[in-house]
Amino acid sequence: MKKLLAVQNLCYKYPDGHEALKKLNFEINHGEKVALVGANGSGKSTLLLLIAGAMEQTDGKIFFSGSEVSESRRRKTGLIFQDADDQILMPSVIEDVAFSPVADGMKVEEAHALAMKILESLGISHLADRVPHKLSGGEKRMVTFAGTLAAEPELLLLDEPTAALDPAGRRRVIKFLKDTNTAMLLATHDLDMAIEICEHALIMSHGEIAAQGALPGIFDDEKLLARYNLAAFD
Ligand SMILES: Nc1ncnc2c1ncn2[C@@H]1O[C@H](COP(=O)(O)OP(=O)(O)O)[C@@H](O)[C@H]1O
Ligand SMILES: [Mg+2]
Repeated sequence: MKKLLAVQNLCYKYPDGHEALKKLNFEINHGEKVALVGANGSGKSTLLLLIAGAMEQTDGKIFFSGSEVSESRRRKTGLIFQDADDQILMPSVIEDVAFSPVADGMKVEEAHALAMKILESLGISHLADRVPHKLSGGEKRMVTFAGTLAAEPELLLLDEPTAALDPAGRRRVIKFLKDTNTAMLLATHDLDMAIEICEHALIMSHGEIAAQGALPGIFDDEKLLARYNLAAFD
C-alpha cells in the first residue's frame, strides 16, 4: 500500500501553554480508514485541525505523499466539523455544495452540475433547493459530506460526525463512510461505528497515541478500553 499521510513527532501547544499534542507519529495509506478514539480532551480535534492546515504545529512534520507542503495539505484534506451548522454557509443546499469549486474558479453552472451529481450519488438530490438550516441533523450532515467531496479531498478528516444524530441519521452516515473509497481519519466515541468502518484504530490519551492496532481486535481488550475511558464497565 502507498503512503498518503505521514505524521512525525507532531507537537502542538495552545497559546495559553497547554500541550495538546505530544510527539505523535503515525501513517495513513491511500484508501485506508483509521479511527481516532480517546476521552474528551485527549487531543483528537486538535490533531484534525493541524492535519487540515487550520492551525500550524508547534513542532514536528506532516507529509502528504512524501512531501511536506503546507499549502497542498489543506487542498488534499476535507475536514468535517463536529457541528454541521459551522460548515453550512450558503442559502441553498446546491449553492453550498458548489461553494468550493466556485471559489476555486469553476463556472457557476458547471459547479452546480457537479454539485447535483454529488447530491445524486449520496441519494439527497431532492434536497438541492432546500434551505440548509431547516434540514434535519442527518440531512445537514449529508450536505456537509457533499460539500466536502466537491473539493475532491484525498483524506477525509471527520470530527465526531454522528455525535448529534438520531439512529437513522447515524446509519446513513455509516453507510456513506463504508461506501466511500477515500482515506479517512475518523474521530469518534462510537466504537461500534469505528469497527464497522475502519481497519485500524489510534487510541489517544492526554495528547499522546497511547495504543494502536487493527480493528476489531484491539477493542476486544476490556482493560485497555477501561484504561483510556473508551467504555464504561460496572
Ligand atoms: N483553544 C484552546 N486553548 C487552550 N486549550 C485548548 C484549546 N482547545 C482545546 N484545548 C485543550 O487541548 C486539549 C485537547 O483538546 P481537543 O483536541 O479538543 O480534544 P478532543 O477533541 O479529544 O476532545 C484539551 O485539554 C483542551 O482543553
Ligand atoms: Mg473534539
